[in-house]
Amino acid sequence: MSSSTPKKLRSQAWFDNPDNPGMTALYLERYLNFGLTREELQSGKPIIGIAQTGSDLSPCNRHHLELAKRVRDGITAAGGLAMEFPVHPIQETGKRPTAALDRNLAYLGLVEVLYGYPLDGVVLTTGCDKTTPACIMAAATVNIPAIVLSGGPMLNGWWKGERAGSGTIVWKSRERLAAGEIDYNEFIEIVASSAPSVGHCNTMGTASTMNALAEALGMSLPGCAAIPAPYRERGQIAYDTGKRAVEMVWEDLKPSDIITREAIENAIVVNSAIGGSTNAQIHINAIAKHAGVPIKMDDWQEVGYEIPLLVNLQPAGKYLGEEFHRAGGVPAVVNELVKKGKIREAVTVNGKTLADNCRGKESEDWDVILPYDQPLVKDAGFIVLKGNLFDSAIMKTSVISEEFRNRYLVNPADPNAFEGKAVVFDGPEDYHHRIDDPSLEIDEFTLLFMRGTGPIGYPGGAEVVNMQPPAALIKRGIHSLPCIGDGRQSGTSGSPSILNASPEAAAMGGLALLRTGDRVRIDLGKGTADILISNEELAERRAALSKDGGYHFPGNQTPWQEIQRALVDQFDEGMVLKPAVKYQHVAQE
Ligand code: FES
Ligand code: MG
Repeated sequence: MSSSTPKKLRSQAWFDNPDNPGMTALYLERYLNFGLTREELQSGKPIIGIAQTGSDLSPCNRHHLELAKRVRDGITAAGGLAMEFPVHPIQETGKRPTAALDRNLAYLGLVEVLYGYPLDGVVLTTGCDKTTPACIMAAATVNIPAIVLSGGPMLNGWWKGERAGSGTIVWKSRERLAAGEIDYNEFIEIVASSAPSVGHCNTMGTASTMNALAEALGMSLPGCAAIPAPYRERGQIAYDTGKRAVEMVWEDLKPSDIITREAIENAIVVNSAIGGSTNAQIHINAIAKHAGVPIKMDDWQEVGYEIPLLVNLQPAGKYLGEEFHRAGGVPAVVNELVKKGKIREAVTVNGKTLADNCRGKESEDWDVILPYDQPLVKDAGFIVLKGNLFDSAIMKTSVISEEFRNRYLVNPADPNAFEGKAVVFDGPEDYHHRIDDPSLEIDEFTLLFMRGTGPIGYPGGAEVVNMQPPAALIKRGIHSLPCIGDGRQSGTSGSPSILNASPEAAAMGGLALLRTGDRVRIDLGKGTADILISNEELAERRAALSKDGGYHFPGNQTPWQEIQRALVDQFDEGMVLKPAVKYQHVAQE
């Protein structure tokens, strides 16, 4: 336990306020009624919330129901009092229309809990994709001491002697299903084999990415992100996390001390090195905005592009979560980056800097976490594109395949650019309905566009931009086409799509003006993406569409969809609720 002088605890304003005996008694009696004693509530024990994201509806995080017991033990051992409470569930694969719609809802709910209840600090249980950013965003807004406990990835999945990785196996197997190589039942069995235990996705999808970035931000104990959910170390770090939460209260170590510009840059750099999900751009921008740290889209390229891919995990590489942990996890990756001066000075939840925590933590397996100078891919960060199609969109360069390079990036005079005919889909239902329509004349040089799938168009933004080519093309061996859109892509997908386009079609971005048959030019070197038509023609199309009431998208199905659509910002701004950003450090007042 910390030896710091106890300060007046925030919770004592509820539980021990002699100036207002009426309120104190009211607050106390209902917390005494389940067996707590006045000694526990009034003797100056830090009260630590356990923000519980696990439930039967959230299987990826369900393991936290068990882990919370170890967190509680750690809190008690350090002289604190644990109070566990539920967070609005966010299950990536189970929530309609999109789990991303719920990130901001869970954020809002958690802000109210952290602000309005007698908590001195909080342990944030994270795992499935959006649970991590939702929790960190809320902690940043409220700004009480907060520490992340990741739930950890599932064990490795296996199918017929090969690693079967979460999500990644779905994208591969659905091609085989489309080609008639496997049937419906085998498809489901293969996919189920990728999920052999409790935990979140075992690939470097959005869940593993965001938990790694929580660690890179300094919000979790070193090594926390990668420990597989069922391993003994997971329970042990849950205990340590609970203990540390109490100490952080005495040290008054808050999110505002940790989530600085330097920490955000460390997260961007680590995202490149791990081959992280393109969803990280949205979530890190949101965390930065709620923390009051300036960030712009170009930062992703300026800070992150030249960082090499060091982690050989699916979808960019070969291995899965168990190997990542055994090879040293995030600390071993950061150690490689520290050697090259790529990690900035930023304090973490244990009071030391990220660099000091990780220096000397050499990779235990150089085939899984590679040396900086012999990476899987050089310059593996995102590039940021702009043009008359959108003001910004990102592309994950580490997953550009040889097949892609050999088909599109072949002009020696212009080696980074390609052009093609656009075929445009308005949402995933339109795509599924029409992709195999021969009249679209989709060939291997067609560019597939998906629009109507941004934060407003498909509330929360749909993970649908990585579109499979028509079955006829797959049978001919063409496994992917360039895909571009205003939606997102699953972090477990290995497609080099151009994603997160802002502004989206529903906000009358340039994508709304695109028509099937237009020629489009993408220049990865210059970072441009343009419809090859004149500005006059573009202006005419815009005027005509505006006259027609703008880009059409489906209506709302729930109250929250209506509220979020009215208030949400675009992907480049982190898809945050615009009015929420002005509330900073609210517990400090
Ligand atoms: Fe929940 Fe991947 S679906 S972690
Ligand atoms: Mg996802």
